[in-house]
Amino acid sequence: MLTLAGLKPGEVFFDLGAGDGRTVIMAAKEFGARAVGIELREDLAKKALSTIFEEGIQDRVTIINANMFNVDISSADVIFLYLTTSANDKLRPKLESELKQGARVVSHDYEIVGWRPVKVDNFCENPKLGYPTHTIYLYKKI
Ligand SMILES: C[S@@+](CC[C@H](N)C(=O)[O-])C[C@H]1O[C@@H](n2cnc3c(N)ncnc32)[C@H](O)[C@@H]1O
Repeated sequence: MLTLAGLKPGEVFFDLGAGDGRTVIMAAKEFGARAVGIELREDLAKKALSTIFEEGIQDRVTIINANMFNVDISSADVIFLYLTTSANDKLRPKLESELKQGARVVSHDYEIVGWRPVKVDNFCENPKLGYPTHTIYLYKKI
């Protein structure tokens, strides 16, 4: 997903609904991004922070324990979403008003209805199944 988004070193990456922080950690460690994870659940935000300190990457990764609708996302080069179609729908006006031109949005499994993806990629995490189990939608703010 981060490869599909073309995430580059030094870019600002946001995961809206960051869970245990696995994606922001990968964005910083493997792609050299400055990563911000926003997570509503305090227990998950604490777990993410603890892993980030264990990994010693706290200078490159920030976790904000908050509702993503209340956080300024205007500095993002890449936004990652693994939410639901209805959450994406609620988020759409915020993305449209705050994101800068050229910012990319990559959404795991759920499209942003009303936006046209620049790329759609299907993949299977278990090759034995022989059919795709996940879809990635890539959007670019114009
Ligand atoms: C399916 S998980 C994705 C976790 C992570 N992005 C990943 O891919 O591993 C969705 C996460 O979004 C969080 N979430 C849901 N609504 C939120 C909101 N309004 N603000 C911040 N986080 C939210 C949930 O608590 C949950 O941890």
